[in-house]
Amino acid sequence: MSHQVFISQSDIQQRVKVLADKINADFQGKELVVICVLNGAFMFCADLVREINLPVVMEFIKASSYGSGTVSSGKITLDLGFQGELKNKHILVVEDIVDTGLTLTKLFEMIKHESPASLKLASLLFKPARNKHKVPIDYLGFEIEDHFVIGYGLDYDGKFRELPYIGIYQGEVNE
Ligand code: PRP
Repeated sequence: MSHQVFISQSDIQQRVKVLADKINADFQGKELVVICVLNGAFMFCADLVREINLPVVMEFIKASSYGSGTVSSGKITLDLGFQGELKNKHILVVEDIVDTGLTLTKLFEMIKHESPASLKLASLLFKPARNKHKVPIDYLGFEIEDHFVIGYGLDYDGKFRELPYIGIYQGEVNE
């Protein structure tokens, strides 16, 4: 199935470079702990860290709230399993999308308990129309309208994450 391209591969790559340049400038001389929020952020995070020229320690956590539908279930599962300590570290959380904001609100609460030196968020997308929990996004790729988007890490029922661009899902949705 083909999908209407919503944000092209080249637009994404250009924006990723702009965000990475800003991160490089903001954290100059520091080591960064980058926490990639799986699954959706895998592609954005992989591209972003390749443009970051600071020492980076990668961590991965798994968060999920959608199940197989298109609407957040409101129940967040966070599978924390950090390899190293977060205490006194500069943390950059990398997400694919902030929608209701619930996932990031919960995750930030948990990370703050670990007493990091600083805590920032990079998110490729933000959907203000659905936002309920205000989350400050320090490095934002694109603000979008209330479309169900797929590709570049984002899925519908586990599919389409591999697309190099962001599209709008055009099939029937299972809510
Ligand atoms: C998506 C996305 C964020 C979250 C955002 O994850 O990756 O983690 O939803 O939604 P919220 O702001 O309403 O909490 P999802 O649960 O679809 O899991 P996935 O990353 O494995 O696709």
